[in-house]
Amino acid sequence: MALNTKNPTETNAWKKLELHYSEMQKASMQELFQLDSSRANTFNLQWNDFLIDYSKNIINTETIQLLLELADEVGLKSAIADYFEGEVINQTENRAVLHTALRATDSAVVKVEGIDVIPEIYEVKEKIKAFTNEVTSGERTGFTGKAFTDIVNIGIGGSDLGPAMVVEALQFYKNHLNIHFVSNVDGDHVNEIIKKLNPETTLFVIVSKTFTTQETLTNSETIRKWFLSKDFGTTQEDVAKHFVAVSTNIDKVTEFGINAANVFPMWDWVGGRFSLWSAVGLTISLAVGYDNFDELLQGANEMDEHFKMEDFDKNMPVILALLSVWYNNFFGAESEALIPYTQYLQKLAPYLQQGTMESNGKSVGRDGKPVNYQTGTIIWGEPGTNAQHAFFQLIHQGTKLIPADFIGFITPLYGDNDHHDKLMSNFFAQTEALMHGKSGVQVQAEFDKQGISEEKAKFLLPFKIFSGNKPTNTILIQRLTPKTLGSLIALYEHKIFVQGIIWNIFSFDQWGVELGKQLANSILAEIDTEKVQSHDSSTAFLLNHFLRNKKN
Ligand code: F6P
Repeated sequence: MALNTKNPTETNAWKKLELHYSEMQKASMQELFQLDSSRANTFNLQWNDFLIDYSKNIINTETIQLLLELADEVGLKSAIADYFEGEVINQTENRAVLHTALRATDSAVVKVEGIDVIPEIYEVKEKIKAFTNEVTSGERTGFTGKAFTDIVNIGIGGSDLGPAMVVEALQFYKNHLNIHFVSNVDGDHVNEIIKKLNPETTLFVIVSKTFTTQETLTNSETIRKWFLSKDFGTTQEDVAKHFVAVSTNIDKVTEFGINAANVFPMWDWVGGRFSLWSAVGLTISLAVGYDNFDELLQGANEMDEHFKMEDFDKNMPVILALLSVWYNNFFGAESEALIPYTQYLQKLAPYLQQGTMESNGKSVGRDGKPVNYQTGTIIWGEPGTNAQHAFFQLIHQGTKLIPADFIGFITPLYGDNDHHDKLMSNFFAQTEALMHGKSGVQVQAEFDKQGISEEKAKFLLPFKIFSGNKPTNTILIQRLTPKTLGSLIALYEHKIFVQGIIWNIFSFDQWGVELGKQLANSILAEIDTEKVQSHDSSTAFLLNHFLRNKKN
């Protein structure tokens, strides 16, 4: 069944939320906490190893009630069923959206056009497992019979960000293989990677759903040329030993020289930015072993079940999505910060930038009409405590409202409690500081204690005040494991889905990346000419400056 095309602003709940917002816009969280000492008990969710405290938001029980009404009115329940059951919800590309099937159990039945896709998913999983074991054990070797020591993942966007983020996040669980990622078409980037490699012991994993992406094909060709250079004594047949591919485009892959047996298939119902659970995750499996890769999938599957089955008022992705809608559409917040208190998650924000912004950065509703409200939020962030020393000033005392998710872990992986207690003290202190702020009275009391002169105190006072009332969600997880990481990623995937349903947009296409690609191709065709004449005067002026100086 097609998703409905309800404009959220025309629902009763939206109208009630507008009225409610006029009462809440000036509400102070400090006062809300004073009024209700058990506020944290009301606004928290606990599930498996996860605790989400969302009490430090500018909400009361009525806010949540109205947001839940909004979810009901836009038909979220039936949209979730359509999502999991393989309905064609990516209508502009005429595709189902089934990354959830990739982590389903083997007893599940998920049909696409009447055919159960679970058996073929498990066939590919077996292939990933066997290949991983052959490479990590040294049974599969390069052209001189040596075991592989290095893996290079060549891909971009969803064929890079997910594997790169997870390999970084699961470093603690990593084996002996060195993992590299080449994504940008920037030749300097690929050359920096190549210079670290020994062709005898390097395996290249080309990941491209379409196998037509300029960046990935250019990088793959450059690497193949390097691999076949005379100095190494390699032959065309050796390419088959050192290059494998993940793609839906088997013909193009074999044309490149990759043995058909070394192609890991994927399906058009897996969107690039949600594909790390498929063979796109081959590099993850190679880096941390198949069992850990499978645990990642299990963690995601458990979150899928929670999302599918749990009532909306206790449903983590639903509550996070609704809070985000509250700030985006009523408070006018434009961005959200994502602050993990672990260095392992340093690539989570870039990963979720694609997930969120490629999915929900849309301005046409599912009815084909321009939307008359805000959609996708801007996602950004860095791990704490680094973030505190970089951009927290603006979150604390700037003019913009920036709701933030704080993600922390109870147990450190190396058991270093001295560091971890310091790290987590910052984690808890920041959300408290963002909520409470510091009043003029408190600042004055500090001045008095420090014996600061009246004149100096009068001058300094306004600069030292923190208004507080900055919303945060605290996501506290027991330990960073493949399983909890899988659940965490799936949590955000489903948050993206819920928001797309509410905003009445198609979250699973990405037409907005096409125009730039088309223009880049036409400019590339002209880049060897002496002088360009077409284009607007700015682009022509820039291109001609580039062409003139390139030749100098
Ligand atoms: O950026 C656009 C996009 O289509 C992404 O959605 C996708 O992840 C990326 O390009 C790479 O595409 P492919 O896997 O086909 O090379």
